[in-house]
Amino acid sequence: MASKRISPKRISIGEGFAKAILFGEHSVVYGYPAIVCGLGVGAIASVQDAETSAFFFTGVNANFQTQLESPSSLAEGFRSLFEVLGITSSVEIHVDLSIPTGAGLGSSAAIGAACCRALIKHFNLSEDLIESGVEAFEVVFHASPSGVDQAAALYGGFFQFSKSSGYQKIEVPVLDLVVANVGSREPTKHILERFASQKKSDETRFKVTMEEMGSLPSQAQIALTNKDLVEVGKLMTHNHSLLNEVGVSSPELDIACQIAIKAGALGAKLTGAGRGGCIISLVQDPSSNAVEKALLKAGYWTRSYHILENSGQ
Ligand code: MEV
Repeated sequence: MASKRISPKRISIGEGFAKAILFGEHSVVYGYPAIVCGLGVGAIASVQDAETSAFFFTGVNANFQTQLESPSSLAEGFRSLFEVLGITSSVEIHVDLSIPTGAGLGSSAAIGAACCRALIKHFNLSEDLIESGVEAFEVVFHASPSGVDQAAALYGGFFQFSKSSGYQKIEVPVLDLVVANVGSREPTKHILERFASQKKSDETRFKVTMEEMGSLPSQAQIALTNKDLVEVGKLMTHNHSLLNEVGVSSPELDIACQIAIKAGALGAKLTGAGRGGCIISLVQDPSSNAVEKALLKAGYWTRSYHILENSGQ
């Protein structure tokens, strides 16, 4: 008797990159440039046909699932993404994350990019939909994003970004960065709203701080080109104190930066929206592991990144 053959389900895979903003978070929303360092693949999504649409997440601090009809923001993100892509069929998507979620490393944009890429492959859709798909997903979490997280999630690498010029790869020397997560934070949307209300309450002070923050990326770019890491570190620490002034740091983030600097980091700052989440520190001598050890000892999720020199081509 012939045995019944079960045909394997077709699975389509997509990836999205993680990022750390080295200079210019928040000021980038107001038109200034930001300097961003890609941290490799942050999310891998696999899509397969299913009876009902459901989404499963696993990774560093993730073990959860949601359905398309659920009231969660995540489900809302998928509904917007499906609408832009014109998807009406049901799928199951499994997402594997190599970065913590909601910690300033661009997890939502990385998830959006990974899922959008996998869905485009699965349904054989036009690649031209990629940017609008990721934007539709991201808007749910960020209200009015500058676009920096989407650019990082889609293209990765080390780059400068501004609302007017978009993504531009830049020249960097070898960099050793240590990232540490101090823990939970408010949703990015709320932090951006808080930031905007700060602007309303004291327009003059806000403008001065924004201009100072906005000038750091060009100073940093000169220091990076000159391979002057001491200067890059100083500028990072200065960027952190300006972010602190506008209310987006937290005591936990300040403490983590101090721990990194005390252990020998050339500079440290919060990265991403702030009010919790990650700090990023620049290390001169990675062989000692002193900064990584100090941050691990303090109990943070910590990871070292060795960024290879690139010519910006
Ligand atoms: C979040 O990673 C970066 C922010 O500047 C928001 C944005 O640019 O959309 C805080």
